[in-house]
Amino acid sequence: MTSTHRLPPSGTQCLLSARPTPTDRIPFADLAAMTREVREEVEASFAQVLDSGRFIGGEVVERFEQDWAAHCRTAHAVGVANGTDALQLALRGLGIGPGDEVVVPANTFVATAEAVVLAGATPRFADVGPDTLLLTAATLEAALTPRTRAVVVVHLYGQIADMDAIARVAAASGLAVVEDAAQAHGAVWRGRPAGSLGDVGCFSFYPGKNLGAFGDAGAVVTDDADLAHRIRCTRDHGRAQGSHHEHPFLGTNSRMDALQAAVLSAKLPRLAAWTSARQLRAEQYRTELSGGPVRLVDDASGGGHVYHLLVARVHARDRVRSALDQAGIETGLHYPRPCHLQLPYTGCADGALPVTEQAAGEILSLPMFPHLTAEQVTRVCDQLQEIVAAAVDADVA
Ligand SMILES: Cc1ncc(COP(=O)(O)O)c(C=O)c1O
Repeated sequence: MTSTHRLPPSGTQCLLSARPTPTDRIPFADLAAMTREVREEVEASFAQVLDSGRFIGGEVVERFEQDWAAHCRTAHAVGVANGTDALQLALRGLGIGPGDEVVVPANTFVATAEAVVLAGATPRFADVGPDTLLLTAATLEAALTPRTRAVVVVHLYGQIADMDAIARVAAASGLAVVEDAAQAHGAVWRGRPAGSLGDVGCFSFYPGKNLGAFGDAGAVVTDDADLAHRIRCTRDHGRAQGSHHEHPFLGTNSRMDALQAAVLSAKLPRLAAWTSARQLRAEQYRTELSGGPVRLVDDASGGGHVYHLLVARVHARDRVRSALDQAGIETGLHYPRPCHLQLPYTGCADGALPVTEQAAGEILSLPMFPHLTAEQVTRVCDQLQEIVAAAVDADVA
């Protein structure tokens, strides 16, 4: 592909003729339109919470927990303070702690590994498959040791990992299966939703997530009544339910607040439409980029990918990213330094994890949000293809 862009070799600025005005900029994500859709409803719910004086827990939180459990098709949902706590409390609830190892994909947000350490256990990093960049049965198997007690499967970018194959390895080794579904609200695998496929599912409702609060929040979902009970107690200082002064568990403070639950309840009925809008734009990206120099991370979900992130893999990623920025297109990186190469996790992998390490230098998250327009996607695709082709030409010359 020939290009009108002159993209010089690394270290120099991209020469683009005119910088776009701020109004032409395409954001990486835009929460404002979603907020506008729910604003009136949220304000009415906030008024009710203010009148009730129940700011933590209470009816509003319980209603959201019921609705979220129904959405995930699990028997229980427990609202907590954030996604990291959801993972930590799930692991603790499963009895995982000091002396135990937990397999975690190296290609994830660092919180997945952090939660293992906060539970007192040791993360052991696994590589990922080259097409989806998700944990696979083979990469899980390669990371097992006699001390492995659990695996945290991360449904990164919004796509569920191959849970059938992973469940077979987990069952053969007696591992508990925890789903990190922080990026996969409503994602589906063979007809079953994220969070319902392992022993326990963990969600983040950080504002930028597909279902996002107006602050931090998270949830744990499970069919296991005892586990749900332990997590309910643990999130509230280990307090016995129904008894204010009995603390039979070592707990923490990780309660969901009512204002966040009110936001989540207002947004939940719109999640399916917002997900369809993301899927439509993802389809457009795939069509417009096909045959060109830009490769997208595969969608192997059979329609169940919820596209929290739309991730490309490109040559000369950092130069391409800054050229896109100059062209008024914002992008993200998820994640440019794998967990096993972060300082606190030195020694938690058996040497190099080549697929993760190569991907870390190539991945580029393109604009993706429900109110992204078809015209914006076309502009991103045109610019991206031109810039990547120029980068390839410059490096070949
Ligand atoms: C894959 C993954 N796991 C865990 C988390 C942690 O969630 P939180 O930020 O709500 O603690 C996130 C959130 O960014 C995430 O993307």
